[in-house]
Amino acid sequence: MSGYFITLEGGEGAGKSSNMAWLAERLRAAGKTVLMTREPGGTPLAESIREVLLAPGDEAMADNTELLLVFAARAQHLAEKIRPALARGEWVLCDRFVDATWAYQGAGRGLDRDAIAALETLVVAANQPDMTILFDVPVDEGMARAGKRAALDRIEQEDRVFFERIRQCYLERAGQQPERFRVLDAAQSLERVRDQLGPLVEEMLAWQ
Ligand code: TMP
Repeated sequence: MSGYFITLEGGEGAGKSSNMAWLAERLRAAGKTVLMTREPGGTPLAESIREVLLAPGDEAMADNTELLLVFAARAQHLAEKIRPALARGEWVLCDRFVDATWAYQGAGRGLDRDAIAALETLVVAANQPDMTILFDVPVDEGMARAGKRAALDRIEQEDRVFFERIRQCYLERAGQQPERFRVLDAAQSLERVRDQLGPLVEEMLAWQ
């Protein structure tokens, strides 16, 4: 028995989190057991790593430290939460996953692609998502939305150019892997975004 693994991706302020709850509701209404989780985080240990990753501090975090922490959190999350849930036949909805590492650490920080690929093979192995929904929003719009929330975390404090590289990387990956990615125009109203999500729910429900 194996469940399904759905990931939600996008830049800051793209509305992933609020739409994930809606998606979970729709799947539950169709009788599915749904687990909602997020990265970095998802287990107590991985959430502790998240705090280290996102807390602005006096000591600058080395890029490789950031990369290894992201994958350390992911290894724990997969072992403790994602793989067991999939083995129970559940539907796992995850707010960000390894595409975020390609976008933020790969394109954003400019880290070595071979190093990321090696860590992906080691940590993610066969657990690639069945579907990845990309909430695409222009950088200025996303930054304005994120800026209205609580204080900016360490990564959110980066400049506009950083987030532009992230957006382009996500769009590029979506173009290269059209069988897995579905791209939504997340600059639209919440209602219009849900109109775009509806057909994706139908697509998922047709899987079984
Ligand atoms: P969130 O704000 O969507 O919860 O994501 C937390 C931050 O972590 C966000 O700025 C993106 C960043 N992040 C990475 O840099 N690499 C990763 O692999 C993941 C999963 C998140």
